Amino acid sequence: MSPISYDQLSDLEKSALVEAENTLKNAYTPYSHFNVAACLYSQNGQLVSGANCENASYGLVMCAERSAIVRANAMGLRKFSGIAIITKGETYDTAEPTAPCGSCRQMLYELSQLSNCDLKVIMSTTKKDKIMVASISELLPYAFGPKDLDIDIAKYQK
Ligand code: THU
Repeated sequence: MSPISYDQLSDLEKSALVEAENTLKNAYTPYSHFNVAACLYSQNGQLVSGANCENASYGLVMCAERSAIVRANAMGLRKFSGIAIITKGETYDTAEPTAPCGSCRQMLYELSQLSNCDLKVIMSTTKKDKIMVASISELLPYAFGPKDLDIDIAKYQK
C-alpha cells in the first residue's frame, strides 16, 4: 500500500473525505481522546458519515465506520462504493493514516457483499497530507461472510 495525494482522489472521494473531516468534531471521545470520522459514499453521490462514540463502560465503544454503516442502514441505504476515514488526536494531528479495526473490517465486508462491490477504503491523516487506499478484500482477505452460512443476501440489497 503506497500513499497517494489528496489531488489523486476523484471528486466524489474528495467530497466523502471532506464530509468525514467535518464530522470529526462530533466524535464523543472523553476516554481515548482520539477522534475518528468516516463517510460512506455511493456512485450516485450519497454520503453518510459517522463518528466514534465512547462510553464509560469501555467495551461499548462504537467506532466511526460502524456508526456510519448502521446510520446508512437506518436510512434505508445498503449500496456503497467506498468509505473515507480520517482521524485526529485531541491535542495532535495524526502523522499516519489510521486503518479500520477488525470489527469494522468485518462490517465493511458485509456491506461490500450487499453493495456487490469490493469497497474502497480511503484512510487519511488529519491534514490530508498522507492518504492510503485499499479495498476491503485487501484489508480482510479470506473473509467470513454470508456465503459461509449458505445465505443469499440478494433480497436484502437496496
Ligand atoms: N476507533 C474507530 O472509531 N474506528 C476504528 O476502526 C478504530 C478505533 C475508535 C474507537 C475508540 O473510540 C478510539 O478509536 C480509540 O480506540
